[in-house]
Amino acid sequence: MLTYGCQMNEHDSEKISGMLTSIGYEETDDENNADLVIFNTCLIRENAELKFFGKLGEVKGLKRKKPDMLIAVCGCMMQKEEIRQKVLKTFSFVDIIFGTNTIHELPSLIYNAEINKKRSVDIIDNTELIYEDMPKQRKFKYKALVNITYGCDNFCTYCVVPYVRGREKSREPIDIINEVKALAEDGYKEVTLLGQNVNSYGNNLKNGITFAELLYELNKIDGIERIRFMTSHPKDLTDDLIRVIKECDKVCNHVHLPVQSGSSDVLRRMNRKYTKEHYLELVNKLKKEVPDVAITTDIIVGFPGETEEDFQETIDVIKKVKYDSAFTFLYSIREGTTAALMENQIPDEVKHERFDRLLDVLYPIVLDKNQQCIGKVYPVLVESVSKTSETFLTGRTEHFRLVHFKGSEDLIGEIVNVKITNVKTFHMEGEIE
Ligand code: SAH
Ligand code: SF4
Ligand code: F3S
Repeated sequence: MLTYGCQMNEHDSEKISGMLTSIGYEETDDENNADLVIFNTCLIRENAELKFFGKLGEVKGLKRKKPDMLIAVCGCMMQKEEIRQKVLKTFSFVDIIFGTNTIHELPSLIYNAEINKKRSVDIIDNTELIYEDMPKQRKFKYKALVNITYGCDNFCTYCVVPYVRGREKSREPIDIINEVKALAEDGYKEVTLLGQNVNSYGNNLKNGITFAELLYELNKIDGIERIRFMTSHPKDLTDDLIRVIKECDKVCNHVHLPVQSGSSDVLRRMNRKYTKEHYLELVNKLKKEVPDVAITTDIIVGFPGETEEDFQETIDVIKKVKYDSAFTFLYSIREGTTAALMENQIPDEVKHERFDRLLDVLYPIVLDKNQQCIGKVYPVLVESVSKTSETFLTGRTEHFRLVHFKGSEDLIGEIVNVKITNVKTFHMEGEIE
Protein backbone atom coordinates (compact mmCIF):
# COMPACT_ATOMS: atom_id res chain seq x y z
CA MET A 1 0.00 0.00 0.00
CA LEU A 2 1.28 3.43 -0.95
CA THR A 3 -0.14 6.37 0.95
CA TYR A 4 0.09 9.95 -0.29
CA GLY A 5 -1.08 13.14 1.43
CA CYS A 6 -1.96 14.08 4.97
CA GLN A 7 -2.55 12.28 8.25
CA MET A 8 -6.20 11.73 7.31
CA ASN A 9 -4.98 9.51 4.52
CA GLU A 10 -2.36 7.90 6.77
CA HIS A 11 -5.10 6.99 9.18
CA ASP A 12 -7.44 5.76 6.44
CA SER A 13 -4.61 3.47 5.35
CA GLU A 14 -4.42 2.11 8.90
CA LYS A 15 -8.12 1.27 8.62
CA ILE A 16 -7.61 -0.36 5.23
CA SER A 17 -4.74 -2.43 6.65
CA GLY A 18 -6.88 -3.36 9.63
CA MET A 19 -9.68 -4.61 7.42
CA LEU A 20 -7.36 -6.49 5.11
CA THR A 21 -5.56 -8.13 8.03
CA SER A 22 -8.88 -9.26 9.45
CA ILE A 23 -9.69 -11.06 6.20
CA GLY A 24 -6.32 -12.75 6.01
CA TYR A 25 -4.00 -10.42 4.09
CA GLU A 26 -0.49 -9.62 5.27
CA GLU A 27 1.42 -6.47 4.47
CA THR A 28 4.53 -6.78 2.28
CA ASP A 29 7.23 -4.47 0.89
CA ASP A 30 7.81 -6.83 -2.01
CA GLU A 31 5.65 -5.30 -4.72
CA ASN A 32 6.66 -7.92 -7.28
CA ASN A 33 4.88 -10.63 -5.35
CA ALA A 34 1.96 -8.70 -3.87
CA ASP A 35 -1.53 -10.11 -4.42
CA LEU A 36 -3.03 -6.69 -3.95
CA VAL A 37 -1.48 -3.24 -4.51
CA ILE A 38 -3.33 -0.21 -3.12
CA PHE A 39 -2.73 3.45 -3.86
CA ASN A 40 -4.26 5.85 -1.33
CA THR A 41 -4.13 9.13 -3.25
CA CYS A 42 -4.05 12.88 -2.55
CA LEU A 43 -4.71 15.83 -4.84
CA ILE A 44 -4.06 18.80 -2.61
CA ARG A 45 -1.37 20.09 -5.00
CA GLU A 46 -0.40 19.18 -8.53
CA ASN A 47 2.81 17.41 -7.53
CA ALA A 48 0.85 14.97 -5.32
CA GLU A 49 -1.13 14.03 -8.42
CA LEU A 50 1.92 13.70 -10.67
CA LYS A 51 3.71 11.45 -8.19
CA PHE A 52 0.76 9.06 -8.13
CA PHE A 53 0.35 8.86 -11.91
CA GLY A 54 4.09 8.20 -12.29
CA LYS A 55 3.95 5.32 -9.84
CA LEU A 56 0.72 3.89 -11.26
CA GLY A 57 2.35 3.68 -14.68
CA GLU A 58 5.18 1.61 -13.18
CA VAL A 59 2.73 -0.93 -11.76
CA LYS A 60 1.53 -1.89 -15.21
CA GLY A 61 4.70 -3.95 -15.71
CA LEU A 62 4.24 -5.70 -12.37
CA LYS A 63 0.76 -6.80 -13.28
CA ARG A 64 1.94 -8.12 -16.66
CA LYS A 65 4.34 -10.42 -14.81
CA LYS A 66 1.75 -11.44 -12.21
CA PRO A 67 -1.67 -11.24 -13.93
CA ASP A 68 -3.67 -12.24 -10.84
CA MET A 69 -2.37 -9.22 -8.93
CA LEU A 70 -5.22 -6.88 -7.99
CA ILE A 71 -4.63 -3.13 -8.31
CA ALA A 72 -6.79 -0.81 -6.22
CA VAL A 73 -6.86 2.99 -6.18
CA CYS A 74 -8.60 4.96 -3.43
CA GLY A 75 -8.36 8.25 -1.56
CA CYS A 76 -9.10 11.85 -2.37
CA MET A 77 -8.24 11.76 -6.09
CA MET A 78 -10.87 9.12 -6.71
CA GLN A 79 -13.57 11.43 -5.37
CA LYS A 80 -13.19 13.56 -8.52
CA GLU A 81 -15.24 12.23 -11.41
CA GLU A 82 -12.82 13.47 -14.11
CA ILE A 83 -9.79 11.86 -12.49
CA ARG A 84 -11.66 8.63 -11.90
CA GLN A 85 -12.64 8.50 -15.56
CA LYS A 86 -9.05 9.17 -16.56
CA VAL A 87 -7.84 6.26 -14.41
CA LEU A 88 -10.57 3.95 -15.72
CA LYS A 89 -9.80 4.81 -19.35
CA THR A 90 -6.02 5.16 -19.34
CA PHE A 91 -5.07 2.52 -16.81
CA SER A 92 -7.12 -0.50 -17.82
CA PHE A 93 -5.19 -2.71 -15.39
CA VAL A 94 -6.77 -0.99 -12.36
CA ASP A 95 -9.29 -3.46 -10.86
CA ILE A 96 -10.77 -1.61 -7.91
CA ILE A 97 -11.63 2.02 -7.24
CA PHE A 98 -13.11 3.27 -3.99
CA GLY A 99 -13.24 6.63 -2.26
CA THR A 100 -12.91 8.37 1.07
CA ASN A 101 -16.50 7.47 2.00
CA THR A 102 -16.43 3.83 0.92
CA ILE A 103 -13.36 2.39 2.64
CA HIS A 104 -15.54 -0.12 4.49
CA GLU A 105 -16.65 -1.59 1.13
CA LEU A 106 -13.15 -2.80 0.22
CA PRO A 107 -13.63 -6.47 1.21
CA SER A 108 -16.71 -6.79 -1.00
CA LEU A 109 -14.95 -4.95 -3.83
CA ILE A 110 -12.08 -7.40 -3.60
CA TYR A 111 -14.53 -10.28 -3.66
CA ASN A 112 -16.22 -8.91 -6.75
CA ALA A 113 -12.92 -8.33 -8.56
CA GLU A 114 -11.42 -11.68 -7.59
CA ILE A 115 -14.39 -14.01 -7.80
CA ASN A 116 -16.59 -12.30 -10.38
CA LYS A 117 -13.58 -10.93 -12.31
CA LYS A 118 -15.34 -7.58 -12.56
CA ARG A 119 -13.90 -4.12 -12.32
CA SER A 120 -15.28 -2.76 -9.07
CA VAL A 121 -15.95 0.93 -8.49
CA ASP A 122 -17.67 2.31 -5.40
CA ILE A 123 -17.79 6.05 -4.74
CA ILE A 124 -20.14 8.10 -2.59
CA ASP A 125 -19.79 11.88 -2.99
CA ASN A 126 -20.99 12.86 0.44
CA THR A 127 -22.46 11.05 3.40
CA GLU A 128 -23.81 11.75 6.85
CA LEU A 129 -22.72 8.32 8.02
CA ILE A 130 -19.68 7.62 10.14
CA TYR A 131 -18.45 4.04 10.35
CA GLU A 132 -17.31 3.30 13.89
CA ASP A 133 -15.42 0.20 14.97
CA MET A 134 -13.48 -0.33 11.78
CA PRO A 135 -10.45 -2.49 12.62
CA LYS A 136 -7.21 -0.49 12.54
CA GLN A 137 -3.71 -1.74 12.04
CA ARG A 138 -1.78 1.18 13.48
CA LYS A 139 1.66 2.04 12.18
CA PHE A 140 3.04 2.85 15.63
CA LYS A 141 2.57 1.20 19.02
CA TYR A 142 2.94 4.31 21.19
CA LYS A 143 1.34 7.16 19.23
CA ALA A 144 -2.02 7.01 17.48
CA LEU A 145 -4.09 9.07 15.09
CA VAL A 146 -7.71 9.54 16.13
CA ASN A 147 -10.36 11.12 13.88
CA ILE A 148 -12.60 13.64 15.58
CA THR A 149 -14.16 15.29 12.53
CA TYR A 150 -14.41 14.25 8.90
CA GLY A 151 -14.78 16.55 5.90
CA CYS A 152 -14.71 20.32 5.77
CA ASP A 153 -17.24 23.13 5.37
CA ASN A 154 -14.86 26.01 4.96
CA PHE A 155 -14.32 26.14 1.22
CA CYS A 156 -11.08 28.10 1.25
CA THR A 157 -10.98 29.16 -2.39
CA TYR A 158 -7.72 27.35 -3.24
CA CYS A 159 -8.57 24.03 -1.62
CA VAL A 160 -10.03 20.75 -2.93
CA VAL A 161 -10.62 19.10 0.44
CA PRO A 162 -14.32 20.08 0.85
CA TYR A 163 -14.99 18.64 -2.62
CA VAL A 164 -13.27 15.32 -1.97
CA ARG A 165 -13.98 14.76 1.72
CA GLY A 166 -17.55 16.04 1.87
CA ARG A 167 -19.29 18.14 4.53
CA GLU A 168 -17.96 18.38 8.04
CA LYS A 169 -19.24 15.85 10.55
CA SER A 170 -18.09 15.17 14.09
CA ARG A 171 -17.78 11.84 15.83
CA GLU A 172 -19.78 11.38 19.00
CA PRO A 173 -17.63 12.25 22.04
CA ILE A 174 -18.28 8.86 23.64
CA ASP A 175 -16.83 7.07 20.60
CA ILE A 176 -13.69 9.23 20.73
CA ILE A 177 -13.30 8.83 24.49
CA ASN A 178 -13.72 5.05 24.26
CA GLU A 179 -11.19 4.83 21.46
CA VAL A 180 -8.62 6.84 23.44
CA LYS A 181 -9.29 4.77 26.59
CA ALA A 182 -8.69 1.59 24.62
CA LEU A 183 -5.48 3.06 23.23
CA ALA A 184 -4.31 3.89 26.76
CA GLU A 185 -5.03 0.31 27.83
CA ASP A 186 -2.95 -0.92 24.91
CA GLY A 187 -0.02 1.18 26.14
CA TYR A 188 -0.31 4.17 23.82
CA LYS A 189 1.17 7.38 25.24
CA GLU A 190 0.25 9.95 22.61
CA VAL A 191 -2.85 10.66 20.56
CA THR A 192 -3.20 13.14 17.71
CA LEU A 193 -6.77 14.26 17.16
CA LEU A 194 -7.47 14.77 13.50
CA GLY A 195 -9.83 17.15 11.73
CA GLN A 196 -9.55 19.71 8.93
CA ASN A 197 -10.68 22.24 11.51
CA VAL A 198 -10.67 20.67 14.97
CA ASN A 199 -11.90 23.94 16.48
CA SER A 200 -15.33 23.46 14.95
CA TYR A 201 -15.65 19.99 16.52
CA GLY A 202 -19.17 19.39 17.78
CA ASN A 203 -20.92 21.92 15.56
CA ASN A 204 -23.21 19.31 14.03
CA LEU A 205 -23.76 17.30 17.21
CA LYS A 206 -26.95 17.55 19.25
CA ASN A 207 -25.20 17.46 22.64
CA GLY A 208 -23.54 20.85 22.10
CA ILE A 209 -20.03 19.72 23.10
CA THR A 210 -17.11 21.95 22.05
CA PHE A 211 -13.55 20.99 21.16
CA ALA A 212 -12.30 22.49 24.42
CA GLU A 213 -14.74 20.32 26.39
CA LEU A 214 -13.67 17.22 24.48
CA LEU A 215 -10.04 17.94 25.37
CA TYR A 216 -10.94 18.30 29.07
CA GLU A 217 -12.50 14.84 28.96
CA LEU A 218 -9.59 13.24 27.12
CA ASN A 219 -7.12 14.84 29.51
CA LYS A 220 -8.62 12.69 32.30
CA ILE A 221 -7.69 9.39 30.67
CA ASP A 222 -4.98 7.57 32.62
CA GLY A 223 -2.03 6.32 30.62
CA ILE A 224 -2.24 8.89 27.84
CA GLU A 225 0.53 11.41 28.39
CA ARG A 226 0.32 13.63 25.34
CA ILE A 227 -2.64 14.96 23.40
CA ARG A 228 -2.00 16.70 20.08
CA PHE A 229 -4.48 18.01 17.56
CA MET A 230 -4.50 19.31 14.04
CA THR A 231 -5.52 21.46 12.34
CA SER A 232 -6.68 24.59 14.15
CA HIS A 233 -8.41 27.10 11.93
CA PRO A 234 -7.64 30.60 13.27
CA LYS A 235 -11.22 31.77 12.73
CA ASP A 236 -12.53 29.28 15.31
CA LEU A 237 -9.80 29.26 17.96
CA THR A 238 -11.63 30.15 21.18
CA ASP A 239 -10.48 31.51 24.54
CA ASP A 240 -11.76 28.27 26.04
CA LEU A 241 -9.35 26.32 23.88
CA ILE A 242 -6.46 28.53 24.94
CA ARG A 243 -7.46 27.91 28.57
CA VAL A 244 -7.47 24.13 27.97
CA ILE A 245 -3.99 24.25 26.44
CA LYS A 246 -2.84 26.19 29.47
CA GLU A 247 -4.57 24.11 32.12
CA CYS A 248 -4.56 20.54 30.84
CA ASP A 249 -1.18 18.98 31.48
CA LYS A 250 -1.46 16.38 28.72
CA VAL A 251 -2.52 18.79 25.99
CA CYS A 252 0.74 19.71 24.26
CA ASN A 253 1.76 23.36 24.23
CA HIS A 254 1.91 23.32 20.47
CA VAL A 255 -0.62 24.83 18.10
CA HIS A 256 -0.48 24.30 14.36
CA LEU A 257 -2.20 27.47 13.20
CA PRO A 258 -2.07 27.83 9.42
CA VAL A 259 -1.94 31.49 8.42
CA GLN A 260 -1.75 30.85 4.62
CA SER A 261 -1.01 34.54 3.92
CA GLY A 262 -0.22 37.69 5.89
CA SER A 263 -2.23 39.96 3.62
CA SER A 264 -5.79 40.67 4.75
CA ASP A 265 -6.81 41.18 1.14
CA VAL A 266 -5.41 37.80 0.05
CA LEU A 267 -6.98 36.19 3.13
CA ARG A 268 -10.36 37.64 2.14
CA ARG A 269 -10.00 36.25 -1.36
CA MET A 270 -8.91 32.90 0.10
CA ASN A 271 -12.17 32.93 2.14
CA ARG A 272 -10.21 32.38 5.34
CA LYS A 273 -12.53 34.65 7.36
CA TYR A 274 -9.83 36.37 9.45
CA THR A 275 -7.54 39.32 8.91
CA LYS A 276 -3.84 39.74 9.53
CA GLU A 277 -4.65 41.78 12.66
CA HIS A 278 -7.03 39.16 14.03
CA TYR A 279 -4.44 36.44 13.47
CA LEU A 280 -1.68 38.40 15.21
CA GLU A 281 -4.00 39.18 18.13
CA LEU A 282 -4.72 35.46 18.50
CA VAL A 283 -1.04 34.62 18.49
CA ASN A 284 -0.36 37.29 21.12
CA LYS A 285 -3.14 35.94 23.31
CA LEU A 286 -1.78 32.41 22.98
CA LYS A 287 1.75 33.50 23.84
CA LYS A 288 0.55 35.54 26.82
CA GLU A 289 -1.53 32.70 28.29
CA VAL A 290 0.87 29.88 27.41
CA PRO A 291 4.34 31.47 27.43
CA ASP A 292 6.23 28.41 26.14
CA VAL A 293 3.70 27.65 23.37
CA ALA A 294 5.16 26.51 20.04
CA ILE A 295 3.34 27.86 17.01
CA THR A 296 3.71 26.27 13.60
CA THR A 297 1.94 27.14 10.38
CA ASP A 298 1.19 26.55 6.70
CA ILE A 299 1.92 29.29 4.16
CA ILE A 300 0.92 29.50 0.51
CA VAL A 301 3.06 31.67 -1.76
CA GLY A 302 1.75 33.04 -5.06
CA PHE A 303 -2.02 32.94 -4.55
CA PRO A 304 -3.74 34.58 -7.58
CA GLY A 305 -3.35 38.36 -7.50
CA GLU A 306 -0.72 38.30 -4.72
CA THR A 307 1.27 41.53 -5.08
CA GLU A 308 4.76 42.22 -3.75
CA GLU A 309 3.06 44.25 -0.98
CA ASP A 310 0.84 41.29 -0.09
CA PHE A 311 3.90 39.06 0.00
CA GLN A 312 5.67 41.53 2.30
CA GLU A 313 2.70 41.26 4.70
CA THR A 314 3.36 37.50 4.89
CA ILE A 315 7.03 38.18 5.61
CA ASP A 316 5.93 40.62 8.30
CA VAL A 317 3.74 37.97 9.97
CA ILE A 318 6.62 35.47 9.95
CA LYS A 319 8.86 38.03 11.66
CA LYS A 320 6.23 38.98 14.21
CA VAL A 321 5.03 35.47 15.13
CA LYS A 322 8.51 33.88 14.99
CA TYR A 323 7.21 30.46 14.02
CA ASP A 324 8.76 27.34 15.51
CA SER A 325 8.42 25.77 12.07
CA ALA A 326 6.30 26.10 8.94
CA PHE A 327 5.16 24.13 5.93
CA THR A 328 5.50 26.34 2.88
CA PHE A 329 3.76 25.72 -0.44
CA LEU A 330 3.72 27.21 -3.90
CA TYR A 331 0.12 27.94 -4.82
CA SER A 332 -1.11 25.14 -7.09
CA ILE A 333 -4.13 25.61 -9.35
CA ARG A 334 -6.79 23.04 -8.47
CA GLU A 335 -9.51 22.49 -11.00
CA GLY A 336 -13.01 23.02 -9.64
CA THR A 337 -11.98 25.51 -6.94
CA THR A 338 -12.90 29.21 -7.03
CA ALA A 339 -9.30 30.39 -7.05
CA ALA A 340 -8.55 28.38 -10.19
CA LEU A 341 -10.85 30.77 -12.08
CA MET A 342 -9.36 33.94 -10.63
CA GLU A 343 -7.52 36.29 -12.93
CA ASN A 344 -3.93 37.34 -12.28
CA GLN A 345 -2.52 33.89 -11.72
CA ILE A 346 1.09 34.43 -10.63
CA PRO A 347 3.82 33.25 -13.05
CA ASP A 348 5.90 30.32 -11.82
CA GLU A 349 9.17 32.32 -11.74
CA VAL A 350 7.61 34.92 -9.46
CA LYS A 351 6.19 32.21 -7.16
CA HIS A 352 9.58 30.52 -6.92
CA GLU A 353 11.45 33.75 -6.35
CA ARG A 354 9.08 34.78 -3.53
CA PHE A 355 9.22 31.27 -2.08
CA ASP A 356 13.04 31.45 -1.86
CA ARG A 357 12.92 34.88 -0.25
CA LEU A 358 10.37 33.62 2.26
CA LEU A 359 12.60 30.72 3.30
CA ASP A 360 15.52 33.15 3.70
CA VAL A 361 13.48 34.90 6.39
CA LEU A 362 11.83 31.82 7.89
CA TYR A 363 14.80 29.48 8.38
CA PRO A 364 16.98 31.79 10.50
CA ILE A 365 13.96 32.37 12.77
CA VAL A 366 13.36 28.61 13.14
CA LEU A 367 17.07 28.06 13.83
CA ASP A 368 17.05 30.83 16.41
CA LYS A 369 14.06 29.25 18.16
CA ASN A 370 15.93 25.94 18.26
CA GLN A 371 19.05 27.66 19.60
CA GLN A 372 17.05 28.88 22.56
CA CYS A 373 16.62 25.21 23.54
CA ILE A 374 20.34 24.55 23.94
CA GLY A 375 21.26 23.53 27.49
CA LYS A 376 17.64 22.86 28.43
CA VAL A 377 16.15 19.44 29.25
CA TYR A 378 12.98 18.24 27.50
CA PRO A 379 10.86 15.11 27.85
CA VAL A 380 11.06 13.35 24.48
CA LEU A 381 8.77 10.58 23.25
CA VAL A 382 11.19 8.16 21.58
CA GLU A 383 9.83 7.27 18.14
CA SER A 384 12.42 5.22 16.26
CA VAL A 385 16.04 4.45 15.57
CA SER A 386 17.55 7.36 13.65
CA LYS A 387 17.64 6.94 9.88
CA THR A 388 21.24 8.07 9.70
CA SER A 389 22.83 6.10 12.54
CA GLU A 390 21.84 2.87 14.30
CA THR A 391 23.13 4.01 17.67
CA PHE A 392 20.95 7.13 17.61
CA LEU A 393 17.28 7.46 18.46
CA THR A 394 14.78 10.01 17.22
CA GLY A 395 11.87 11.51 19.08
CA ARG A 396 9.82 14.64 19.59
CA THR A 397 9.44 17.15 22.37
CA GLU A 398 6.04 18.39 23.49
CA HIS A 399 6.62 21.33 21.11
CA PHE A 400 7.01 18.94 18.18
CA ARG A 401 10.75 19.51 17.85
CA LEU A 402 12.64 16.56 16.40
CA VAL A 403 15.56 15.42 18.57
CA HIS A 404 18.36 12.92 17.82
CA PHE A 405 20.27 11.35 20.72
CA LYS A 406 22.25 8.23 21.61
CA GLY A 407 20.28 5.41 23.18
CA SER A 408 19.18 1.82 22.85
CA GLU A 409 16.25 0.61 20.80
CA ASP A 410 14.30 -0.64 23.82
CA LEU A 411 13.53 2.99 24.70
CA ILE A 412 11.22 3.31 21.69
CA GLY A 413 7.78 4.31 22.95
CA GLU A 414 9.17 5.67 26.24
CA ILE A 415 9.33 9.30 27.31
CA VAL A 416 12.91 10.18 28.32
CA ASN A 417 14.55 13.43 29.41
CA VAL A 418 16.99 14.78 26.86
CA LYS A 419 19.38 17.68 27.31
CA ILE A 420 19.84 19.68 24.10
CA THR A 421 23.47 20.09 23.09
CA ASN A 422 23.39 21.22 19.48
CA VAL A 423 20.75 22.38 17.01
CA LYS A 424 20.14 22.67 13.26
CA THR A 425 17.17 24.19 11.40
CA PHE A 426 15.20 20.94 11.10
CA HIS A 427 16.34 18.99 14.14
CA MET A 428 18.14 19.19 17.47
CA GLU A 429 20.74 16.92 19.05
CA GLY A 430 21.00 15.98 22.69
CA GLU A 431 21.92 13.50 25.41
CA ILE A 432 19.70 11.46 27.68
CA GLU A 433 19.83 12.94 31.18
N1 SAH B 1 -7.49 21.97 6.95
C1 SAH B 1 -6.20 22.49 7.06
C2 SAH B 1 -5.32 22.29 5.85
C3 SAH B 1 -5.39 21.07 5.04
S1 SAH B 1 -4.49 21.13 3.55
C4 SAH B 1 -6.30 24.00 7.31
O1 SAH B 1 -7.26 24.64 6.98
O2 SAH B 1 -5.33 24.54 7.80
C5 SAH B 1 -2.85 21.44 4.12
C6 SAH B 1 -2.24 22.68 3.56
O3 SAH B 1 -2.06 22.55 2.15
C7 SAH B 1 -3.07 23.95 3.70
O4 SAH B 1 -2.95 24.52 4.96
C8 SAH B 1 -2.49 24.83 2.64
O5 SAH B 1 -1.41 25.59 3.13
C9 SAH B 1 -1.98 23.84 1.60
N2 SAH B 1 -2.77 23.89 0.39
C10 SAH B 1 -4.06 23.55 0.23
N3 SAH B 1 -4.46 23.75 -1.04
C11 SAH B 1 -3.39 24.26 -1.72
C12 SAH B 1 -3.17 24.69 -3.05
N4 SAH B 1 -4.13 24.67 -3.96
N5 SAH B 1 -1.93 25.13 -3.39
C13 SAH B 1 -0.95 25.16 -2.45
N6 SAH B 1 -1.11 24.78 -1.19
C14 SAH B 1 -2.32 24.33 -0.81
FE1 SF4 C 1 -9.03 23.22 2.86
FE2 SF4 C 1 -9.70 25.43 4.14
FE3 SF4 C 1 -10.96 23.16 4.70
FE4 SF4 C 1 -8.44 23.49 5.44
S1 SF4 C 1 -10.18 24.68 6.18
S2 SF4 C 1 -9.31 21.70 4.46
S3 SF4 C 1 -7.59 24.69 3.77
S4 SF4 C 1 -11.04 24.26 2.77
FE1 F3S D 1 -5.31 15.01 2.81
FE2 F3S D 1 -4.57 15.24 0.31
FE3 F3S D 1 -6.96 14.41 0.84
S1 F3S D 1 -3.99 16.55 1.94
S2 F3S D 1 -7.52 15.28 2.81
S3 F3S D 1 -5.05 13.40 1.36
S4 F3S D 1 -6.39 15.82 -0.77
